Amino acid sequence: MSGGDFERIIDALSKADRVAVLTGAGVSAESGIPTFRGAGGLWEGHAIEDVATPEAFARDPSLVWDFYSARRQAALASSPNAAHRALAEMETRFLEFHLATQNVDGLHGRAGSRRVAELHGSLERVRCAGCGSARDWTDDLAFGRPRCGCGGLFRPAIVWFGEALPAEVWREAERAARTADVYLVVGTSGEVYPAAGLAIAAAREGAAVFEINPEATSLARFFSGALREPAARALPRLFTVLASRLPETDARSSDKE
Ligand code: OAD
Repeated sequence: MSGGDFERIIDALSKADRVAVLTGAGVSAESGIPTFRGAGGLWEGHAIEDVATPEAFARDPSLVWDFYSARRQAALASSPNAAHRALAEMETRFLEFHLATQNVDGLHGRAGSRRVAELHGSLERVRCAGCGSARDWTDDLAFGRPRCGCGGLFRPAIVWFGEALPAEVWREAERAARTADVYLVVGTSGEVYPAAGLAIAAAREGAAVFEINPEATSLARFFSGALREPAARALPRLFTVLASRLPETDARSSDKE
């Protein structure tokens, strides 16, 4: 990390009208939720093909429910951290602000972000593998094999490997990436597509793209700079400086009236 990049990010954000953000598991790391890759990551203890594919669910729905029930419990037991809160604050400071997350833990919403594009679904909902109807994931859905009224099996409303992202959510995230003045890539390894492609599309369309991640990822070569520190430190630091430079957007629009 260099102090120079901090100033460049502040400078770019101060001039930006359209800001978009892509977050990954690293943004929730300081809430105590494990990331996927690397030592101690979720995929170290579980094979993706056993728990995160439609085939896995067809083979052993109880195993898949157990895996996601444990993740839901962990998410419910955790709280948003300073990174989630800073992103929620940033939403009020730009004419357009779009937050896309690969996370399914619901922590952005709980931190106060009003609009969150959940690219990989959410642990807060389930849907029927038969008729497709969706409902909130409530505690009465016991572990095992909960069933929909139509007789089909409910499944977590998570996008599994081999499945398409929700079309409308994706379209909006892609539009935001292509039109952003500044694009922030926070706490993701950039290993999973199409989500990682958003950051590349933003860079190709001319956004200043900055990575906030203690580790450089394979996408870093596309970016304009980076803050190599934990998101819960970097984002509040950025927001503190920004807040003094950018009034809330309500105030900005009333200035123009
Ligand atoms: P990964 O586990 O692949 O990457 C987490 C990233 O967070 C790494 O680059 C870490 O260096 C970084 N990181 C760790 N602690 C951090 C911190 N405190 N602040 C900032 N960054 C930190 O997780 P994702 O990129 O989110 O998909 O993984 C993408 C997708 O792969 C997930 O949505 C999930 C997974 O398989 C599905 O389940 C469909």
